[in-house]
Order: sequence, then C-alpha cells, then structure tokens
Amino acid sequence: MGASYQPLDPHNHHKPSTKNPPCFLSKPVYTLLACGFISLALLHLLCCSPAGTQRPAFSPLLQNINNTYSFVSSVPGGDESCNYSDGRWVWSPGYARRYNATACNVKESHDCLRNERPDTGYLDWRWQPAGGCPLPAFDAAAFLAAVRGRHVAFIGDSMARNQAQSLVCLLASAFPSRLVYRGGGGGQSRHNFWRYAFPAHVVTVSFYWNPFIVKATGKPEDESVRESHVHLDTPGDGWGADADTIDVAVLGASHWLLNGAIYYNGSEAIGAHNAPPEFSNYTGVGYAWPLRMAYRTAVARLSSSRRPRTVVLATFSPAHFEGRPSDSPTACTKMEPYGEGEKELDWICRELRDIVYDEAEAARARGAGGGATRIEVLDVTKLAAMRPDGHPSVYMHRDTFAHGVPERMYSDCLHFCLPGPVDTFNEILLQILRKRR
Ligand SMILES: *[C@@H]1O[C@H](CO)[C@@H](O)[C@H](O)[C@H]1NC(C)=O
Ligand SMILES: *[C@@H]1O[C@H](CO)[C@@H](O)[C@H](O)[C@H]1NC(C)=O
Ligand SMILES: *[C@@H]1O[C@H](CO)[C@@H](O)[C@H](O)[C@H]1NC(C)=O
Ligand SMILES: *[C@@H]1O[C@H](CO)[C@@H](O)[C@H](O)[C@H]1NC(C)=O
Ligand SMILES: *[C@@H]1O[C@H](CO)[C@@H](O)[C@H](O)[C@H]1NC(C)=O
Repeated sequence: MGASYQPLDPHNHHKPSTKNPPCFLSKPVYTLLACGFISLALLHLLCCSPAGTQRPAFSPLLQNINNTYSFVSSVPGGDESCNYSDGRWVWSPGYARRYNATACNVKESHDCLRNERPDTGYLDWRWQPAGGCPLPAFDAAAFLAAVRGRHVAFIGDSMARNQAQSLVCLLASAFPSRLVYRGGGGGQSRHNFWRYAFPAHVVTVSFYWNPFIVKATGKPEDESVRESHVHLDTPGDGWGADADTIDVAVLGASHWLLNGAIYYNGSEAIGAHNAPPEFSNYTGVGYAWPLRMAYRTAVARLSSSRRPRTVVLATFSPAHFEGRPSDSPTACTKMEPYGEGEKELDWICRELRDIVYDEAEAARARGAGGGATRIEVLDVTKLAAMRPDGHPSVYMHRDTFAHGVPERMYSDCLHFCLPGPVDTFNEILLQILRKRR
C-alpha cells in the first residue's frame, strides 16, 4: 500500500493524478466508485486556496430561496426511535433552497448558485429516512433553543467545515449573527478557524480545522511539505486549548487519514501510511487504526471533566470522482441522486463508518466523562454517498467557462454546494441534540 504516495507539487496544482488510490487496488472493486478518494493535490486546492473576491451579482435563482422551512416554529419533533442513517432521497421541489450562501460567507467555491451552476435540481430533494420516520426540516429556532447558552464546535477536515458553514448559514438566515473571529492571514486560516455568535440565544458556533483531529504538523501547516506528521496522543492545538469551553463537539475526519501520514505517540514514531519513500522503514499502520486513535484521544480530552457535554462523531462523507481524475471537467456531472439500490456502499465507506460506531460504543462503555459525556453518532455516509449531484463540480468560481471549455479543469466532487445536501447533516444533528439524554 505504501508505494502509491503521490507527492504534491505545490507549483503545479493541476497535475493530473494518474494512479488509482491504493486502497482500491488490493480488494474487490465492486462498488467502490461511490466512495471516492481525494488526491493530495486536490486536498491542497480545496483546503488552501485563497478566498476569491466576491462580487455582488447573483443568479436570479437565489431569489427563489424558500425560507418557509426555517421559520416553522414548532416541528413535530424527531421520533426517539428513528434511525436517520438509512433511507432515500425523494423529489421535493425547492426543499433545499434555504439561504443565500454569500451572505453567510461560505467559501466561494461552494457557493454554487453565485457561481451560476446551471442546473439547480440538486436543491429539489429531501432525505426520507427508512421505515417512514419523519426527518423534520431544519428549524433554526429549535436548534438554538436546544443549544442555548452553549458553545458548539466542529473539529475536523474540510467536510466538517462544510457542515459547520451550513449550520451557520441555516441559523444566520433566521436570527442575527455576529462574526467573533476569523483566522487572519487570508488563505486557509480565513476559512479554517472562525467563530460566530448568535447573541439572542447566547450560542457560539466555532470551526477548528484539524484534518486529523489530533495535532498534526508538516503538510497541514505548510502546503509545500509533502508529508503530515501526526501526534495521535495530542489534541489539535486550537481546539485542545479551548476544549474546556466546548459543550457540543462534532468531530469529523477521514480523508487525510486515507491519504496517509507519519504517526507518533509522544516523541516516538510508531508507524506510517502512504508516506514518502524516505519513511519506508516505518511500520505500515494503515488508516483504520490511526483513525480510531485520533477519535479516542479527542473523546478523552473532551470528557476529561465531568461537565455535561455532547460529543458527536460524524461518519465518512465520500467523494464522487467516480474513478475519473479530479482535473477532468466531467469528474462529477450527475444531475440526480442515486436511487435506492443503484449503488451499494463500498467496503471503505462501510469500514470507516463502522470505526465511528465502534469508537462511540467503546467510549460509552468506558463511561466517558464519568458518564457526563453523551456520545452520539451522526451517520451521514449513505445519504452523502447517494448525492453525486450535490457537489460544486466545475462551478467553483464565477464565469467558469468564460474562456471556453478547457481540456483539464478541476472539479470539486467532495464538498457539497451550500445550500445543498450537507444541510441535511444539520437536520439530523438537530434531532440528535433534541433527544432526551
Ligand atoms: C415553499 O415551500 C413550501 C413547502 O413545500 C410551499 O408550500 C410554498 O409554497 C413554497 N413557497 C415558495 C415561495 O416557493
Ligand atoms: C441505524 O442503521 C444503520 C444502518 O442501516 C446501522 O448500522 C445502525 O446500527 C443503526 N443504528 C441504530 C442505533 O440502530
Ligand atoms: C446575497 O447576499 C449578498 C451578500 O450579502 C448580497 O449582496 C446579495 O444581494 C444577496 N443575493 C440575493 C439574491 O439576495
Ligand atoms: C502511547 O503510549 C502510551 C504509554 O506507553 C500508551 O499507553 C498508549 O496506548 C500509546 N498510544 C498509542 C496511540 O499508541
Ligand atoms: C528510519 O530511518 C531513518 C534514517 O534513514 C532514521 O532516522 C529513523 O529513525 C528510522 N525510523 C524508524 C521508525 O526506524
């Protein structure tokens, strides 16, 4: 597995990645296409590209935003017995047109309406959980009431950020908000470290970009470094320092672990996965074990006091490059969700999801926080895997085809458009937070 590390050339982001991801080579290839794997070069592009300029011209489609759902004052309430993780997407015109993403400062490349992605059918779907369970539409008032006086923190990779930004937009479209801070220096820190306040409910929502959850140096700090050095026993700097202020933590990371790193426990190097050749004498540790350790360290830090707290472990949200290189303009061009039975979850998706369930169960069994820490799973793998149509695709900038259709062009087939399918993650998060302990 170690041989297929793809060094990132920081000066040539558009170098096509020609090799297949290693995980897909050694196992049967039945339905692996749904759970794509993101190349290092693309991770770089998506995580670290500077914010673009924002111009105040908008697609008229934005004017049709249907905010009805945000203002429902009393939703029927989630059923305690509902399992939202399995289900199907049902056609529901306008359901996901909920906010103006430009107004809530999302990354330019996720603001698909502003970028004039021509088809907007991806906003016409609603997640219907299996067994006829209702999943109420997002209700900002109910969310803020459920977390009144609390600090909600998202910790993880750029998919965790995608969900965090969705939450801020869903809340800010209904209630006044204030930007508390935003990482300075432009580029990645602008989008990767921030906090919003919702003063009427004394709620704060923060995002901490920690793509391995735990402390990581090298590539995550400096894009010109090829490899990541990951300290499995140490919480990430930013959230680790703030941990005692966090009441609700949503943890999500897998993509960078799949790509690989060199792993440490204290000062001892304990192994590597997909590392550059000079690290070939390190023991191969794969991605599953480090992922477990990262979650374990985070849960331990977040339950180190008896303060009542909720820790939500989010499952893997796969990419949809469908085996095509990420610089192919047609990497993800599907315009509808997959139907029931059209795609099976591949084994990597299932494995990564199972790790999250296992770690949650193990943390509960250990009585995290002396029992004061509530551990929950936010299982989005299937609903995300069924939405190949919900990504920005090539519409990552304005005037995408201003200069014609180039042969090579990056597609984002990992993050979701905002508004878009990722808003559903927060609908489910709301039901988790409303549940009685
Ligand atoms: C918004 O959606 C609701 C529910 O589907 C619908 O009843 C209402 O007519 C829609 N409003 C607009 C302006 O589209
Ligand atoms: C919910 O469903 C998923 C998959 O269908 C299953 O793996 C999981 O264990 C279920 N959760 C609960 C709490 O039953
Ligand atoms: C969306 O928000 C931006 C920034 O606040 C604003 O300039 C623009 O007019 C809004 N677009 C629509 C359609 O309301
Ligand atoms: C790190 O070392 C400590 C002390 O030997 C041990 O208890 C712990 O399990 C190790 N952690 C990992 C992730 O290997
Ligand atoms: C791998 O080899 C390098 C020297 O080439 C050495 O510095 C390092 O300690 C070795 N690492 C392990 C885990 O053996």
